[in-house]
Amino acid sequence: MSRPLENKLALVTGSSRGIGAAVAARLAREGAAVIVTYASSAERAEAVVVDIRREGGEAEAVGADLGSPDGVKTLIASIDGAFGGRFGGRLDILVNNAGTVGYGPFLDQPDDAYDKHFNVNVRAPIALAKETGRRMAKAGWGRIVNIGSAFGEAAPMGGVTLYVATKFALHGFTRGLSRELGPFGVTVNGVQPGPIDTDLSPNEGTDEHAAMVKLTSVGRFGKVEEIAAAVAYLASPEASFTNGENLTVDGGWNA
Ligand SMILES: NC(=O)c1ccc[n+]([C@@H]2O[C@H](COP(=O)([O-])OP(=O)(O)OC[C@H]3O[C@@H](n4cnc5c(N)ncnc54)[C@H](O)[C@@H]3O)[C@@H](O)[C@H]2O)c1
Repeated sequence: MSRPLENKLALVTGSSRGIGAAVAARLAREGAAVIVTYASSAERAEAVVVDIRREGGEAEAVGADLGSPDGVKTLIASIDGAFGGRFGGRLDILVNNAGTVGYGPFLDQPDDAYDKHFNVNVRAPIALAKETGRRMAKAGWGRIVNIGSAFGEAAPMGGVTLYVATKFALHGFTRGLSRELGPFGVTVNGVQPGPIDTDLSPNEGTDEHAAMVKLTSVGRFGKVEEIAAAVAYLASPEASFTNGENLTVDGGWNA
């Protein structure tokens, strides 16, 4: 595999497992030094780091709860000292991947569910994009990739209304910010996954899982690597003319 991301620093939120872990591994394989972030499971994050290093890549783990503004500050602070300060405070690639979902009828959702969804899925990505976007614009190059959802474009099923609201918001943020940062050599794009087998999605054998399979035209859940491939494209130097795109990778769900 070629290494188009050599000498680039990437930060992938929520990369201790699932889609984020696959994205971190893929970007590292392509040459990027990767900051792996986790909410509470340092062990899982360390395992991702060890796997990346075993393959000859570079990674470090940082813990931060993105449900609070302090978590964002922690991640921003980690950029300056990352990899012995080798990147001088520069961050080349931000992947806003961390996300949360609460299943169940909207009318039964507890009041604190709004803040939880919006803090993690919208406020944290926006705050991180602001702080890192400044650094990218100054450097004249950057890639921001927001992991949205097929639920950021349509709501073909109920039970995830707050999640849908946050992913539509992220979709709009991606488009708006792309207008502002494009002139500085910084692209802002999204990837909108359909159903992918991870801790966040319904387990195989449940009614929800079966309903989601039916909504695809390929008749299956996707794999984390299929999302990582889309992120790798958008993060690459080759994607320099792709800006403001919300790339749907959903097995035909929203066709
Ligand atoms: N799995 C799917 O079917 C699917 C479909 C569409 C979009 N997505 C999106 O993909 C992204 C990754 O999800 P996944 O499927 O890998 O799920 P996952 O549950 O395996 O991973 C989510 C990640 O987000 C992190 N996270 C959650 N709350 C956090 C908090 N408060 N602070 C810091 N980190 C936090 C978790 O630690 C974890 O690393 C999410 O944005 C999700 O909305 C997933």
